[in-house]
Amino acid sequence: MASLFNGLGVVVVGGQWGDEGKGRIVDALAKECDVTVRFQGGNNAGHSLYFGEKSVVLHLIPCGVVTGRRSLIGNGVVIDPEVLLHEMQTLNGLDVPCHPGVLGISRTAHVILPVHKMLDAEREENSGQKIGTTKRGIGPTYEAKVRRVGLRMGDLVNKKRCEDKISQLIDESPAAKSNKSELVEKSLSFGDTLSPFLTDVGEELEKSLSMKKRILFEGAQGALLDVDHGTYPYVTSSNCVAAQASIGAGIGPKHLTDIWMVTKAYSTRVGEGPFFSELDTVMTEKLRTLGNEYGATTGRPRRIGWLDLPALKYAARLNGATGIVLTKIDVLAELANFSVVTHYHADDGSSLTFGEAMEVWANGGQISTKEKIFAMDEAISRSMSSLKELPRTCRNLCDLIENELQIPIKMVSYGRQRGQEFFS
Ligand code: IMP
Ligand code: MG
Repeated sequence: MASLFNGLGVVVVGGQWGDEGKGRIVDALAKECDVTVRFQGGNNAGHSLYFGEKSVVLHLIPCGVVTGRRSLIGNGVVIDPEVLLHEMQTLNGLDVPCHPGVLGISRTAHVILPVHKMLDAEREENSGQKIGTTKRGIGPTYEAKVRRVGLRMGDLVNKKRCEDKISQLIDESPAAKSNKSELVEKSLSFGDTLSPFLTDVGEELEKSLSMKKRILFEGAQGALLDVDHGTYPYVTSSNCVAAQASIGAGIGPKHLTDIWMVTKAYSTRVGEGPFFSELDTVMTEKLRTLGNEYGATTGRPRRIGWLDLPALKYAARLNGATGIVLTKIDVLAELANFSVVTHYHADDGSSLTFGEAMEVWANGGQISTKEKIFAMDEAISRSMSSLKELPRTCRNLCDLIENELQIPIKMVSYGRQRGQEFFS
């Protein structure tokens, strides 16, 4: 398996709007790696894992934890301690040990407080600009971080630091202020429980690399939700592209040797915002049912579209992808015919890149798409070990992706159970 990778730093990121199936890919790769680390986002993520009879949705703890190997939450992640403790309990209940020998948490990761969740929900419900967030407090927590008033995990273990930070944070929120002492007490009690887990993630990773251990960087969300490069303002509040693995785990970018960008064989998005390859209601319902396309975190029905090559090309460039992972090919293959968006056009007929299309969209213009249609020739097998075993139509789709992106497909998954994937 070693030859599958260029080096010791393997990054798995989303090439669309999240929900590409990164969790199951990380689960499959984790046994080839020694350490898994999350580096951005928070419990807005929902990584579904199916192992045998058991299934679990992880929101915060790296999926690698299921292998029993070292699993780290980096400084770039925002942490809701209540959610974290609940997830640890769930895992323990599934016989997945979650003690300080397995799980490590960065002291400099920021803490999501009730006031952040309140603000997130309030804005979604009452402001003129609805993003369709997960209301988990992600945006307001990152705001506090860049405003330099954020509470960090390390603050939870020092009474004075904790009190000072919380005072400063909730000064502007009268509703939260009345609960200040309760909040301090609760935060300190989280600190008590979590202190054995706190660590310097970057330093641990550096040590692991010096011992030739392989690190798996587990991305959340996807390039098109990236706060800088996504469909702004309909984005999440963190950088989701591969470069963030370095910043959000505390390790230099030279260590990121393999960037595997995951894409579904079609597209989905939850929440508001532009979606140029979006399908009509009939086809959306069909694929939603076939692919069980409901948010793993909020349960919201996902919007559905064809695979969008201009968007994927854009995402591959931003990530610096060295390999593509294609998921849910089995779902697409259920259709007698499917399409892939290959080009965008403006009103005047000129062709547009994804970046140009975003500009046209921002100015209120229309984007039309050109599709390539594929007719399925044969049923897909439930057990395959190479690209050669895919139906010809699916192989043609893989060829199109590789040719357009000029990046090899490294892995294909064709079912949600462990083992329903192969490397190529
Ligand atoms: P937030 O991350 O909760 O602030 O939500 C901002 C946008 O990102 C919304 O459209 C969410 O639906 C979307 N989003 C956040 N996390 C995920 C995810 O893990 N998968 C898919 N969409 C997400
Ligand atoms: Mg998800």
